[in-house]
Amino acid sequence: MPDNIPFDTATRIAAGDDGTTYDNVSISLHWSTALLVIVQFALGQTWDWFAKPTRQVMESTHVSLGMLLAAVIVARLIWRLMPGHEVTEITSGWIRTASRSVHLLLYALLIGEVVLGFGWRWAQGHSVDFFGLFAIPGPYGQLDRPARGLLKELHEWGAWIIISVAGVHALGALYHHYVLKDRVLARMLPGAAR
Ligand code: HEM
Ligand code: HEM
Repeated sequence: MPDNIPFDTATRIAAGDDGTTYDNVSISLHWSTALLVIVQFALGQTWDWFAKPTRQVMESTHVSLGMLLAAVIVARLIWRLMPGHEVTEITSGWIRTASRSVHLLLYALLIGEVVLGFGWRWAQGHSVDFFGLFAIPGPYGQLDRPARGLLKELHEWGAWIIISVAGVHALGALYHHYVLKDRVLARMLPGAAR
């Protein structure tokens, strides 16, 4: 083995891993993120259809799952930035540039949406509560109506933009699988783990 290969890569190669497949942790974190985002969107769009007691349960579930989503995103970013957990790029040229940009955009949008969600809850004069187990109090008290209205607008726009970009991202993954017939989707599916 050449001397200039980093230690973590060398260990992986020695273990029979060529670094072209996502590991179990990355795959679980990706699909947890996708599921949570879809559930969050669905809850936010449908709670108005229900009577107050149900709506309140849906809203507090949304906030609790929002905290879980924040933890999953932080875990994903830490895991991804730790040496040895990155995967080898299997695309090139404009497709690589486009998919990297979409992934970066998704991370930025998700972080922005989480910040807006926390900010809005605090602006309502509530703490951010995790299924009644613990709560994070706001650094500020209830904000006035225009400020709450602005946070509502931004959070709602953010939700639609995330769902749209994630939709394009999912279509891209399906295009890889069914048209280009490469391993881009297969290596992110449960069971693909090295
Ligand atoms: C990607 C993740 C998320 C999506 C797609 C999403 C989506 C939505 C949607 C569609 C609404 C309804 C908007 C409206 O009524 O105008 C909403 C409301 C809300 N979201 Fe999120 N949200 C996400 C994450 C979060 C997070 C992390 C938190 C904070 C913990 C949060 C807190 C709230 C709050 C407090 C409301 C208002 C509830 C109320 O009407 O009192 N959201 N969200
Ligand atoms: C709300 C839904 C979704 C979100 C927020 C999301 C987000 C992301 C992000 C941020 C990445 C970059 C991962 C990394 O750090 O390396 C990624 C990768 C990936 N996602 Fe999603 N995703 C979603 C849904 C989906 C769906 C439905 C599919 C399949 C149809 C999919 C297929 C993939 C694949 C194949 C990769 C790896 C791409 C590569 O290796 O270049 N995602 N996703």
